[in-house]
Amino acid sequence: MITPKVEVRVTADGSSTLYVPELDEHYHSTHGAVQEAQHVYLGAGLEPVLAGATSPVRLLEIGFGTGLNALLTLQRSLASPYPIRYDTIEKYPLPAPIIEELGVERYVLNPELLEYHQLLHSATWDTLVKLTPRFALHKMAGALQETSLPADTYHVVYFDAFAPEKQPDMWTDDVFAQLYAATAPGGVLVSYCAKGSFRRSLKAAGWLVEKIPGPPGKREMTRARKAG
Ligand SMILES: C[S@@+](CC[C@H](N)C(=O)[O-])C[C@H]1O[C@@H](n2cnc3c(N)ncnc32)[C@H](O)[C@@H]1O
Repeated sequence: MITPKVEVRVTADGSSTLYVPELDEHYHSTHGAVQEAQHVYLGAGLEPVLAGATSPVRLLEIGFGTGLNALLTLQRSLASPYPIRYDTIEKYPLPAPIIEELGVERYVLNPELLEYHQLLHSATWDTLVKLTPRFALHKMAGALQETSLPADTYHVVYFDAFAPEKQPDMWTDDVFAQLYAATAPGGVLVSYCAKGSFRRSLKAAGWLVEKIPGPPGKREMTRARKAG
């Protein structure tokens, strides 16, 4: 699979993202990539799950991309009461020179975290790798729609696809039914997107859907829960 052409851009909080000219789309919010990841994925998704966890947490990310969500989640896992197993699916793994060009050392100042950033990217694809005693990573190369997922497993799903107008095949009723089947009872799915068509597809698949405040620059985001 050929990775589309991307260009490095710096967002309003000083962290980097990638711009895809072919789609006229960014990998993260231009208001702040780290800020968005912390608010949407860790704040609204992971934290409530960790607060109620009684066993190791299973997490699924759609779109590994630059590895930013994974890095911040690994950082959080260092002080987490339970280990996190992070499964992530990526159709277009990024080449190493692009990862270097992001220049994360400009805003990830902790040398230990910078080392983890390297480890996340050098980890072998399609293999479960234990990066720390509290964080295991399984990067799956391929399209979500063609990936078979275990049933009733994930406590948190980070749904970080390109916007519905840019990549409609990622936002179908079938995709949200596939993710519902893979989510553990009581598990949550979070996304920066708050579009009505997205919420309707989630509901059609059985999710209980709520609109909650979004990160700076975005009024709302979505959190959905599988009854449990
Ligand atoms: C909005 S970006 C995600 C950003 C990523 N979470 C990060 O922190 O950099 C969307 C990602 O989904 C990936 N993608 C596109 N189509 C996909 C598919 N069918 N299955 C899985 N991933 C896909 C893209 O290559 C891109 O990395």
